[in-house]
Formats: sequence, structure tokens, C-alpha cells
Amino acid sequence: MSAAKENAAKGALEFIEDGMIVGLGSGTTTAYFIDLLGKKMKEERISVVGVVTSFDSEILAKKAGIPVMPLEGKVDLAVDGADIVRKDYVLKGGGGALTREKIVDYAAERFIVIADEPKADPGTTYPIVVEVIPFSYQYVMKEMGKLGLEAELRVGGKKLGPVVTDNSNFILDCVGEVRGNAGEFEKSLNSIPGVVENGVFSKFWKIIIGTGEGHYEF
Ligand code: 5RP
Repeated sequence: MSAAKENAAKGALEFIEDGMIVGLGSGTTTAYFIDLLGKKMKEERISVVGVVTSFDSEILAKKAGIPVMPLEGKVDLAVDGADIVRKDYVLKGGGGALTREKIVDYAAERFIVIADEPKADPGTTYPIVVEVIPFSYQYVMKEMGKLGLEAELRVGGKKLGPVVTDNSNFILDCVGEVRGNAGEFEKSLNSIPGVVENGVFSKFWKIIIGTGEGHYEF
């Protein structure tokens, strides 16, 4: 139970309107949002349809009573968590759902990032996550090295061997810095053959930070 994560989720809930198609991110902070959204729909008798970003958020949406639809193009608002929050970018991918997250979050007219306060602390660090085609992972690791990023293949906790994503790919956790312009850096990582997507998100509408007492805009 994290009051700060729940308060961040409450901040995003204020932007929900009847009839919206809402992108549902992945992770523990977004789990609060999904649960609260389900409750709001029942209490206020509003109708919202979710577009999920992972098997996990699909299961949570169903549990919360939120109907889900495939991504058909239109998403009014997406709400998603982050591992690190900065003014010009956020880092995502801790849950390995970054590819579907980026598709849905960037498809949305408005994308709200929700995070608890430690994620915004300049002292907090997190690897740059990339999803790769399994065939390519050793090559991509070497290419990351050339960019000063030390890549490690993510392995499972309750399964032997590499983590396999919802898209049947591998995940590399790459220790290093986002260099220069975040948007350009994000694009440059995706230009490496074998990289499906990376966890640098430089396009968002708002970042809402949750604390033990409430929430504020970053
Ligand atoms: C999953 C993500 C998550 O949004 C990110 O890892 C934050 O997770 P949490 O809210 O559990 O801290 O990017 O791929």
C-alpha cells in the first residue's frame, strides 16, 4: 500500500470524463489508477473504455469492471507510471511493458505520467530499458556499449532464463545517461537494428507527482 502512488493516481482521475477512451498503463502506480477508475465509473455512472498496455493491465481492468477495446487509433487520455521523472523525459520499462505503453501513450491526445515523489529525486537512477528481438540481443548489447550504455539481459524471477515480454521479445537494462536532447536520443536508440522500442519517453502532457499528503504537477 503506497499512499503516494495512490495520490498520484487520484490526480490523474480528475481528468476523466464520461465517454472517454482511456489508455491504461502498467505497473503498481497505474494499478491504483485502474482500481480507482473502476470505482469512479460505478459511483458516478459514467462510461469509459480502456485500451490496455500489457496482459497485466488487462487483468486489472477486467477486475475493476472497465471494458477494454483494442487500439484502433483514438485514445483520449493515457495514464501511465514511470521509473524516473525528469523535466524533459521519463524513463519507463521497469515492468517490461514499454513497447505497448509507448504505442498507447503516444497515440493518446493527452498522456499523463503518474509517479511517487522518489521518482522525481535527481539522485534516483534507473537503467534505460530496451526491448529487443531475441535474435539480435548480443549485437544490440554491443551497440549500446558504443553509446556508453552497459547493457544486461534481464532474467526472470520465477522463471529460468531471460524475461520474455508480452510481444515475445527480450529486455535489456542499460546503465548510463540520456545524452543531449531526450527526443533525439530516444529516436537514435530505435535506429539500432534489433531494437523494438526503448524506455525513454520524451512526449507527455503532464506529470503528476504523488506524496503522502496529496499530489502536485511536476
Ligand atoms: C512498466 C513501466 C511502469 O510504469 C514503471 O516501471 C513504473 O512502475 P511502478 O508504478 O510499479 O513503480 O514502465 O513497463
